[in-house]
Amino acid sequence: MLNGKTAIVTGGSRGIGEAVAYKLASLGANIAVLFVGDPSGAEAVCEKCRKEYGVEAKSYLCDVSDFAAVKGTVGEIKRDFGAAHVLVNNAGITRDGLLAMMKEEDFDRVLEVNLKGAFNMIRHCAGLFLRQREGAIVNISSVTGLTGNPGQANYAASKAGLVGLTKSIAKELAPKGVRCNAVAPGFIATDMTSGQTENPMLKLVPLGRMGRPEEVAEAVAYLATASYVTGEVLRVDGGLAM
Ligand code: NAI
Repeated sequence: MLNGKTAIVTGGSRGIGEAVAYKLASLGANIAVLFVGDPSGAEAVCEKCRKEYGVEAKSYLCDVSDFAAVKGTVGEIKRDFGAAHVLVNNAGITRDGLLAMMKEEDFDRVLEVNLKGAFNMIRHCAGLFLRQREGAIVNISSVTGLTGNPGQANYAASKAGLVGLTKSIAKELAPKGVRCNAVAPGFIATDMTSGQTENPMLKLVPLGRMGRPEEVAEAVAYLATASYVTGEVLRVDGGLAM
């Protein structure tokens, strides 16, 4: 379904991004993984994409919040793969705290990575997508961005911002054949939520359990290939935000 296409997955070195990389590779896409920190996770993901799915895969150390670094990395990806067709803005962080305790730098950093990072990626990939009149962007938002959550003012603002970004880009680029959608996961079992298996909010999940990264990846793959869907926000939350 994505044979010969190239997909960029930010934060693809673990968790949801890792599962997205495998899912898109299983559909035939070559994979570019952006990551920060230790390169071993990203390299292992690329190795599995090459070995198990027979696609090309390469990792790039790139902080998505850095506009100039993103420009350079997208240029490298263009040189390495020749093109890009799918962009999954998955990189994200939390710096939780109740309002009275939240530091200015914690608010700023979460917005810089989660929201501006997606803008930076879209801004620099848009030229490629527009020239070929083809492209699919999937932003990983969160149910927190739809409902709000105490202690997550910064994170919720960034994820709600992604919904506005998604719909604006969808309207702006639709006439040029470029689609933009979002996935809003609920509680997904990854490193980000490793301390939350006892979270009382879990009792509010109608399906009664945490989700798996692979279940989010299914939704991402759907939106990456659903040719008549744009501007959509697809919840993958076991019914939490119903
Ligand atoms: P994770 O913490 O396991 O992985 C995050 C990934 O983002 C890592 O690969 C990390 O290297 C990368 N990253 C962090 N900062 C970066 C930066 N500045 N530049 C480039 N890469 C960066 O997180 P998880 O759980 O896999 O989450 C992935 C996305 O899904 C995030 O956007 C998160 O907000 C969102 N999400 C997660 C939920 C969950 O329950 N785990 C629920 C709702 C949304």
